[in-house]
Amino acid sequence: MKDVEALKKIAGVSACDYVQDGMILGLGTGSTVRYTILEIGRKIREEKLDIIGVPTSLQTKKLAESLHIPLIKIDEIGTVDLTIDGTDEFDDSFNLIKGGGGALTREKIVAKASKSMVVVADSTKYVKTLGSFPLPIEVDLEKWTDVEKKISNFCPNDIKLRGGKNNPFITDNGGVILDAHFGPTIIKPTELEERIVKINGVVEVGLFVGMCDAIVMASNEEVTTLTNPSGRLS
Ligand code: A5P
Repeated sequence: MKDVEALKKIAGVSACDYVQDGMILGLGTGSTVRYTILEIGRKIREEKLDIIGVPTSLQTKKLAESLHIPLIKIDEIGTVDLTIDGTDEFDDSFNLIKGGGGALTREKIVAKASKSMVVVADSTKYVKTLGSFPLPIEVDLEKWTDVEKKISNFCPNDIKLRGGKNNPFITDNGGVILDAHFGPTIIKPTELEERIVKINGVVEVGLFVGMCDAIVMASNEEVTTLTNPSGRLS
């Protein structure tokens, strides 16, 4: 039986099959896509691929720089050929919960600007219904108590300020993260996303609906590519 780290590596590296010479590539954040980024660095170095990366976090930017991957900011180009990113959960409709690493806002900006999005995951990320993973919501530092109150009107369980009041986790954008424990109740992610982003003080919510075109999933038995039938890679 392979451990989760080995599965992450298999998924991360396998997703590079989607990478083509000359692409502008959105580089996601997290421990699974880290393997993708390492492999892209190798391809640039050894296979002389011409790739420009768009990092979704400072963490990814640092990693890419250490691998000498040329980088560009999203507002300098506007469109990205392909984004490869990790996820915290995915369901049968290719909807995602992201933001476990706190980079959801930039991840969503880059994913929205992409012609396609491939997600790398081990099979433990698959769920029938989204919500067991606490939903990350990026909030303005000055507004989190108010936002927390408003979300508690419809979130069935706890909402926690990531890091706690005394030492809150601060995002790359200077915001904080509320982790909303909806439990496996998110059957209408689009409606929930709309409801949350409307609240004054919310920067972004970690629901990624209708964005993911394929999932490269590693399980103990094999690597499976799940292609979204209504996606852009089918
Ligand atoms: C980062 O903010 C997240 O959206 C990550 O993509 C997600 O948490 C998956 O990370 P791992 O690959 O580390 O599980």
